[in-house]
Amino acid sequence: MLKYSSPAKVNLVLEILERRPDGYHELKSIVQTIGLYDTLYFEPAADVSLDCTQPVLNTPDNLMLRAARLLKEYSGYSGGAKIHLEKHIPWGAGLGGGSSNAATTLLALSRLWGLNLSTSEVTALAAKLGSDVPFFIHGGTALVEGRGERVTPLRLLKPLWLVLLVPPFTGIPGKTRRLYSLIRPDHYTKGEFVSRALESLQKHGEIAPSLMFNIFDSLALHAFPEIEHYWRALKEEAGPGNVHLAGSGPTLFTATEGRHQAERLATRLSEKGFEAFATPTVPAPEPQAP
Ligand code: C5P
Repeated sequence: MLKYSSPAKVNLVLEILERRPDGYHELKSIVQTIGLYDTLYFEPAADVSLDCTQPVLNTPDNLMLRAARLLKEYSGYSGGAKIHLEKHIPWGAGLGGGSSNAATTLLALSRLWGLNLSTSEVTALAAKLGSDVPFFIHGGTALVEGRGERVTPLRLLKPLWLVLLVPPFTGIPGKTRRLYSLIRPDHYTKGEFVSRALESLQKHGEIAPSLMFNIFDSLALHAFPEIEHYWRALKEEAGPGNVHLAGSGPTLFTATEGRHQAERLATRLSEKGFEAFATPTVPAPEPQAP
């Protein structure tokens, strides 16, 4: 049996450059894995099956099952695998849990089935499953471009401690598509936010909270009117200008000065009845052949 940890992510910077002829949007983003994980178990079996501790995710179109079917089709492998998913990452929350699980499934099954695929082959398969999936083949800190399929690993030298606040209205069907549909040409930027963050990363090994940016922040209230209460609660603790959506939300995050402050803040929010976590950014795992 193989056991894998599958991390969540946040976009430290997320810009949209333009709408592409294929209907998707051209992105420039700095994406970062964080210390919040699902645990996945894989064992050989005749057929592919999945059971998940979160019953609502036990559906035939779960992205992990689609990943397994895609890998079988691509490689011609005739066997299967029994997959167990222990879900901890809030789902449908903007933290990339489903995409991460799908990427982990591609990596784990390539190994379990002895497929000897290259990282670029696995990344290309990942892109077929969703725009966020290729990033998770690498993890850590990365520049993500194109539709999400161009991933350049970066290095954050100083870990950042974040506080996440998860509002209770996660799992909204079609949420990401809806947020993208609200993007208008005046939301487009030219990559200047990513450039500034990359410069800071090169000079100081970190991205200061003031350099973080997510174009979806400006659409959050429109997309999720109920988010105002949660945004205000986090802002009260974090100070103005330092609250962002995680991906396409509705999870919110803020960057703190370190572990102590992050834990204090998360505890205060939890005491007020919010679902809040303190979590560090985490580097990519040691590279393993897929
Ligand atoms: O690729 P994925 O299925 O995760 O994308 C979900 C939706 O988000 C797409 O149908 C599209 O509407 C939107 N999207 C986009 N541009 C991207 C990524 C996603 O417009 N780069």
